[in-house]
Amino acid sequence: MRYALLPVLVLATLFAQKQADTKPLAEPAAVNPQSVPDKNNLLGLPPLPIPANNPQTPDKIALGDKLFHDKRFSVDGTVSCSKCHDDKQAFTDGLPVSIGHHGLTGTRNASTVLNAAFNQSQFWDGREPDLEGQAKQPLINPVEHGLTDHKQVLEIIRTDPDYLATFQSVFDVSAKKLTIDHVAKAIASFERTLIAGNSPFDRYYFNGKTDAMTDAQIRGFELFIGQGRCVSCHTIEQDHALFTDNRFHNIGVGINQIQQDISRLTQAFLEAKNKGGQVDTMVLTDKKSSELGRFAVTDELSQIGAFKTPTLRNVELTAPYMHDGSLKTLKEVMVHYNNGGVNKADERVNDFLSGGIRPLNLTDPQLNDLVAFMKALTSSWSGSRYANPIPTQAAN
Ligand code: HEC
Ligand code: HEC
Repeated sequence: MRYALLPVLVLATLFAQKQADTKPLAEPAAVNPQSVPDKNNLLGLPPLPIPANNPQTPDKIALGDKLFHDKRFSVDGTVSCSKCHDDKQAFTDGLPVSIGHHGLTGTRNASTVLNAAFNQSQFWDGREPDLEGQAKQPLINPVEHGLTDHKQVLEIIRTDPDYLATFQSVFDVSAKKLTIDHVAKAIASFERTLIAGNSPFDRYYFNGKTDAMTDAQIRGFELFIGQGRCVSCHTIEQDHALFTDNRFHNIGVGINQIQQDISRLTQAFLEAKNKGGQVDTMVLTDKKSSELGRFAVTDELSQIGAFKTPTLRNVELTAPYMHDGSLKTLKEVMVHYNNGGVNKADERVNDFLSGGIRPLNLTDPQLNDLVAFMKALTSSWSGSRYANPIPTQAAN
């Protein structure tokens, strides 16, 4: 419970500042000595984890970039990863739920790929452990790229001399020996460059710049770590903040639609899974299965309707919200929390609701302050891209 002390620390420093107005805000957390304010897009982020078996190299990153944007790897030639993770939309698609080949809809809201490199698991239900594992799924998902198997990906690459030459030089692998794991590694390396910190909050909190956040944002921050209890799941550490505990919670989104049906649904789901059903396909093609949340991965009843705590970085740019895209604005999200996990105050909460979700008794201006704070988490962009490529040397 490292965050337990945080509210005290922060409030104490805010108080100290009020006492001595001439002094800049006492450092609320460790000030990063390497950081150059307004230039360092890594401010507020922890070291980037890079797997030992997939080191970053400039050529591999460029290859991954090309693969990520290549529409040929889809059944109708219209779907690349970037269709749903668009560079210009903070690597999301702006839709409630994503649309794949031939206009087919899935069941879930596209997560941003920005900072996904820091996730301890991938997808809303954490069904893949890492970016390499994740990248193989959409290609063969029936409502995304829609290919029938990974061989089709490799066949396309084998007909393209440019790709073949690049795979050869990056991985030292011949056309014959090329596997989907090489493809996944290159894509993952590219994704590890989609990193963005240095938001107004980072400059305020980690660099001690008192004027980096507005008064409303500072009030919102106090609520975030205080009465709102948001920080218990959207965590802030002493020297960095990813705003996620990487755990799974039922906060009352979507689950009310399957409440009556849960025992039948869970049974049918487990049977299908035992018969070899792929979780990735089942949850993205069937709305009700999707609502089972983390249960679909662990088979644990207590995790019905539980989803991964998403990062809040750049959340201003990634509407609509929640795993099902059901909340259109940040204000709607705050109302949902204020009601204690239901959209309307008189609705019944679901049986599996997290103990951390209770009515908050916040006023409307306070909800607006929380929204203002969410907007303090938007990174500074440079150039036309949303994220600067991070230096290519491995962090460990
Ligand atoms: C048709 C739209 C679509 C396409 C195409 C697509 N994605 Fe996604 N992506 C999604 C959706 C929707 C989710 C959330 C699904 C879930 O959690 O069950 C997601 C989740 C992810 C995540 C997890 C992020 C997190 O925070 O958990 C990553 C990483 C990702 N996609 C990368 C990719 C890559 C790489 C490709 C191409 C190989 C790709 N996506 C293709 C829609 C798409
Ligand atoms: C018990 C843990 C928990 C607490 C407490 C909590 N959250 Fe969340 N938050 C989550 C989870 C889990 C989700 C995703 C839920 C889903 O999609 O079903 C989420 C989603 C969100 C989203 C939507 C993000 C997106 O990309 O769709 C926002 C914004 C948000 N939370 C802000 C807050 C704020 C502000 C507070 C405090 C008032 C708060 N959260 C308290 C766990 C929590």
